Amino acid sequence: MSQHTTLSPVYGIVGDGRVATHFAHYLSLLAVPFRQWSRRRAPESKLAEVIDGCQIVLLLIRDGVIEDFVREHASTLRNRRLVHFSGSLVSKFAESAHPLMTFAERLGDLAFYRRIPFVVEEGRTRFAEIFPGLPNPSYAVPADRKAHYHSLCVMSGNFTTLLWTKFFAELESCFGITRDAAIPYLEAITSNLVHSPESALTGPIARRDLGTLNANLAALRAANDPYEKIYQAFVEVHVPEAEIL
Ligand SMILES: NC(=O)c1ccc[n+]([C@@H]2O[C@H](COP(=O)([O-])OP(=O)(O)OC[C@H]3O[C@@H](n4cnc5c(N)ncnc54)[C@H](OP(=O)(O)O)[C@@H]3O)[C@@H](O)[C@H]2O)c1
Repeated sequence: MSQHTTLSPVYGIVGDGRVATHFAHYLSLLAVPFRQWSRRRAPESKLAEVIDGCQIVLLLIRDGVIEDFVREHASTLRNRRLVHFSGSLVSKFAESAHPLMTFAERLGDLAFYRRIPFVVEEGRTRFAEIFPGLPNPSYAVPADRKAHYHSLCVMSGNFTTLLWTKFFAELESCFGITRDAAIPYLEAITSNLVHSPESALTGPIARRDLGTLNANLAALRAANDPYEKIYQAFVEVHVPEAEIL
C-alpha cells in the first residue's frame, strides 16, 4: 500500500467525461482510493451504494448541471464534502478546485498530472485539506474574481486551439500544406512563449506594419472569412492607432 493510500480520504467521482477520466487515472497512478459513478455506468438508484464510504465527492460533470445534481441527490450527498472542478461556477452547494489544464482524450503520466496547478476559492477549504495526498501546487482566488480568472484561461487555451485547428485545416484545404509541415511553427511559438514571452510576438502587429495588417484584413474579407472580425479585434486592441481600410 502506498503512502498516499494511508494519507488520503476515499473519493467519490461523479461523471465519466474528460476530466473525470483524467482525474480517475491520476488517482490510480498515485494509488489514492476512489469510487466512480456515472449515469452511463449505473442507474441513479446505485449512486448511494457506489459512493458509500466516500468522505469527499467530486462532481466532475457539466457546469450547468452541478447544482441540480446536488439538489436532486441531497440525501445521498449529505454529510460529505462536495467539490466541483469548474473554473467559473461559484456555488454554495459545493467547494471548487479548478485544474489549470486542458484535458482532451489522451491520458498523461504521473509527471504531467503532478504539475497541474489547482485554483480554489479564497476563504473556503484549502486544496491541501481536500486533497492531502496530492503534490500539486495550488492557488486561491476571490470567488467574485473567478469568472475573470476563467475568462483568461478560455482565451489563452481554447481560443488559440480554435485558431490552430482552423490554421491546420485551411493550410491543407486551401494550399495543400500538411499539418505535419506546420508543426515546427507551432513548436517554435510555444517554445518562445515558454522561454522568452516578452519577445515572443513577431509579425505585423509586433512591427506595427499597417500596410500588411490592411492587406491581411482585405484578403480575409475577400475570402468571406468570419475570422476577419477576430483579426480586426486584435488590431484594434494592440495597434489602436491603425486606420483600418
Ligand atoms: N475538459 C477540460 O479541459 C476541463 C478543464 C478544467 C475544468 N473542467 C471542468 O470539469 C468538469 C467536467 O468537464 P469535462 O470537460 O469532463 O466535460 P465532459 O467531457 O463533457 O463530461 C461531462 C460529464 O458530465 C456528465 N453529465 C452531464 N449532464 C449530467 C447530468 N444531468 N447528470 C449526471 N451527469 C451528467 C456527462 O455524462 P453523459 O456523457 O452521460 O452526458 C459526462 O460524464 C466541468 O465542470 C468543467 O468546467 C474541464
